[in-house]
Amino acid sequence: MPTSQPTQPSHNQLDTKAQAWSALFSEPMSELVKRYTSSVFFDKRLWQADIAGSLAHAEMLAAQGIISQEDHAAIQRGMAQITQEIESGAFEWKLDLEDVHLNIEARLTQLVGDAGKRLHTGRSRNDQVATDVRLWLRGEIDLIGGLLTDLQKALVEVAEKNVEVILPGFTHLQVAQPVSFAHHLLAYVEMFARDAERMQDVRRRTNVLPLGSAALAGTTYPLDRERVAQTLGMDGVCQNSLDAVSDRDFAIEFTSAASLCMVHLSRLSEELIIWMSQNFGFIKIADRFTTGSSIMPQKKNPDVPELARGKTGRVVGHLMGLITLMKGQPLAYNKDNQEDKEPLFDTVDTLKDTLRIFAEMVGGQLNPATGAKEGGITVNAQAMEAAAQKGYATATDLADYLVKKGLPFRDAHETVAHAVKAASSHNCDLSELPLAVLQGFHASIDKDVYECLSLRGSLGARNTLGGTAPAQVRAQIARHRARLA
Ligand code: ARG
Repeated sequence: MPTSQPTQPSHNQLDTKAQAWSALFSEPMSELVKRYTSSVFFDKRLWQADIAGSLAHAEMLAAQGIISQEDHAAIQRGMAQITQEIESGAFEWKLDLEDVHLNIEARLTQLVGDAGKRLHTGRSRNDQVATDVRLWLRGEIDLIGGLLTDLQKALVEVAEKNVEVILPGFTHLQVAQPVSFAHHLLAYVEMFARDAERMQDVRRRTNVLPLGSAALAGTTYPLDRERVAQTLGMDGVCQNSLDAVSDRDFAIEFTSAASLCMVHLSRLSEELIIWMSQNFGFIKIADRFTTGSSIMPQKKNPDVPELARGKTGRVVGHLMGLITLMKGQPLAYNKDNQEDKEPLFDTVDTLKDTLRIFAEMVGGQLNPATGAKEGGITVNAQAMEAAAQKGYATATDLADYLVKKGLPFRDAHETVAHAVKAASSHNCDLSELPLAVLQGFHASIDKDVYECLSLRGSLGARNTLGGTAPAQVRAQIARHRARLA
């Protein structure tokens, strides 16, 4: 392989992107088109991935004898300086250089000369950008995994303190049966556990290397793509160059998993909003997650859950945007793909912020002095229980009681409907009807009926796997604790 052969007379640096492919072009781009086509002001956040990818590529080029060791060393030196410049804010990002890739490469060439120009041997921005986005997203998925664990832990901690706290379980938002507040919270833990699994699954398909596919067809240089994948900690190499440069499935899958996670956060938001309304009064969230009203002095508005619910629409919108972006694109790379970044970036930012804020809003913040968490949701167990007393939440228990006495379920159901009607006309709960009255509905009813009509009796009776009985809920908490440890 030619290593340091003399280069043609050329520009010493790429000051404008036209110079990256200049000879063919007879007029410069208009300012508007420049702005329209450039991505640097949003894709610069890929800079670390871009440098990591370039360093891995350069290392391989040198190992394969495609560039000299001196060039490799120069590239490393230049990239170290660029890293420092970007970190310190001294790096000058230029719109004229279109994107993060050309900006970094131009600066490298400015710093180390021809070695910088050799970096692009055997690669194209098409496989470069696909690699950068994957590397960057892999890191973000790992951070999101950690945040999902934190949120699940926060929910489990609150659950642990509320196993015996009873609130009405709803169907159709009508009082249905009493459930443990812990059980209710653990339903969300299940959702977030699935979200974490989905993220891991997306990670597997994200962590695969496009680099070495070059523009679309592979390259004439004897690249060692496996080596680059290994250097970058990737699990494998994309096996088809056309697919490698144009595939954005991983971005769509990620945004889909993120959308579903946001939907779960949005459902939880809705519950928090309902629970903290005056008519429910089940919980309070700390003041720092609420705002007042400029006109109504008594108000504390649940802004954070409301915004999370609202931002869910935005993330779902990004999913629609990305999936539509791909529709109708012929192979291989098309500039359309530059539009993948803003929705992806915003999805990551929105999801991370929302997860972080929810873990703290639900579970509170660690007070280092006491080692305890403070400022999470405050539970009003009395209000929850009082609400569960209304609405005949134990009617099913009475029906089950009659079934155990030998009645067919449908008949029991009908009998209880009469009992509920009677209680409702007396404006009292089933458990407040005298035994003689209850016996009027069915002779088999005995005084042990009051046990099954109590909230606690009802809860304890649902002692099947996945049920709301405190014993079951404690078993689930132990399972989650072990899983999340
Ligand atoms: N900024 C471009 C993007 O985000 C990089 C790839 C450009 N490739 C090209 N052939 N124009 O997709």
